[in-house]
Amino acid sequence: MGGPARALIDRIRSRQAKLAVIGMGYVGLPLACEFARAGFTVHGIDVDASKVKGLAGGRSHVQDVSEEQLRPLIQKELLRPTADFSVLGGCDAAIICVPTPLRKTRDPDISYIVAAVEAIARFLHPGLLVVLESTTYPGTTEEVILPKLGATGLKVGLDFFLAFSPERVDPGNPRFHTRNTPKILGGVTENCGRVALELYGQSIDRVIPVSSTRAAEMVKLLENTFRSVNIGLVNEVALMCDRLGLNVWEVIDAAATKPFGFMPFYPGPGLGGHCIPIDPHYLSWKLKTLNYTARFIELASEINGQMPHYVVDKVVDALNDMRKSVRGARILILGVAYKKDVGDVRESPALDVLKLLADRGAETRYNDPHAPEIAIDGGETYHSVPLVQEELQSADLVIIVTNHSTYDYDFIVRHARCVLDTRNATRNVAAGRGRIRKL
Ligand SMILES: NC(=O)c1ccc[n+]([C@@H]2O[C@H](COP(=O)([O-])OP(=O)(O)OC[C@H]3O[C@@H](n4cnc5c(N)ncnc54)[C@H](O)[C@@H]3O)[C@@H](O)[C@H]2O)c1
Repeated sequence: MGGPARALIDRIRSRQAKLAVIGMGYVGLPLACEFARAGFTVHGIDVDASKVKGLAGGRSHVQDVSEEQLRPLIQKELLRPTADFSVLGGCDAAIICVPTPLRKTRDPDISYIVAAVEAIARFLHPGLLVVLESTTYPGTTEEVILPKLGATGLKVGLDFFLAFSPERVDPGNPRFHTRNTPKILGGVTENCGRVALELYGQSIDRVIPVSSTRAAEMVKLLENTFRSVNIGLVNEVALMCDRLGLNVWEVIDAAATKPFGFMPFYPGPGLGGHCIPIDPHYLSWKLKTLNYTARFIELASEINGQMPHYVVDKVVDALNDMRKSVRGARILILGVAYKKDVGDVRESPALDVLKLLADRGAETRYNDPHAPEIAIDGGETYHSVPLVQEELQSADLVIIVTNHSTYDYDFIVRHARCVLDTRNATRNVAAGRGRIRKL
């Protein structure tokens, strides 16, 4: 192993290495905190000045990082929030955690990665390790990042090091967090893999090296495509059970008693969050460039994307049975976050359900203890209403879209005229026939 790699490993082991995490969001902030807790000085770089200011003042905007955890790291200057990329000049590693959304055409938008890499390239120096953590299509690290860093004249694997390590964090998960979620890692060269392994090994319990950055990129897309396709399958099973007059929840629970060869997934109002609805399209886009159609991905996306419409069909049926139309009906949506116990509403199917009902003339309101305010496509802003008896009683229909743990489902069913439960959240609630309708 050559000089810069050896020197970098020594600096990592002695905690002299200074790190930069670029992007202080759901992924970057917990990761930066983990490295800071392990004793490294970490610059938390973000282009959003309000986030930087908040963090510098000890305020966390990410649910998984409490202010009790954050404040000592800020006070000891182990975590240093900044919008100034010039700190990269004095860093030994730069870890990129910026967003990777889709364009309106459903093509990957890697402009945030490109911007971050261009900033790094300006301060690239011998001995710097660069790691991409953002989810992206196989090939991004070597086809997009490497040429930009290589154009500085420095040599990968000799002067600087480049690796990909996908973030697998599951926001809100009380058991698995950054440190105890095994981490996949692939380097461009053997040296790149070795120094990156050394760094992550200091603050992550288990790091699993793979043979290349492409393999590491593909691992993440396999994981999220697996979820998207299985959720698509079970959503279709829900549609089939509806036609067959069967209770899909009963069928899944019974199937899940099989001790091998079956893993339960559950239907719902549609996919949400920054990962599952988006990441598989990165893979399918890349395959299109190779003249291959990723059929499972497209089919799952089609079925999952239709689920908010299916929920609206169920609303129409429920109101019809009450001799009411959607227009003018008062509808209360419970839970707008994309999954339970978090406040993240990105890509949440609740936003689609709200919009579809509002477009049909319903008087829609919502409650979500984790999301006090939301903006719907088209600009309208909604505020969470208090979940009190009068609110439930005055709604023609209450829809449980997100099954937050803090909801008192007995209370909800007791006071609502009719509940449409898209998550089987009321499974243990006894109710008069017809009061609870399921997906
Ligand atoms: N949220 C999750 O659950 C999750 C899980 C695993 C992987 N990921 C992946 O991790 C990546 C980041 O996702 P996230 O949820 O943390 O996003 P996020 O939107 O919460 O955070 C990204 C941050 O990057 C900042 N940013 C944007 N461009 C920047 C730039 N050029 N320089 C510096 N900062 C910049 C934004 O201001 C924002 O604070 C994505 O690729 C995502 O797919 C997310």
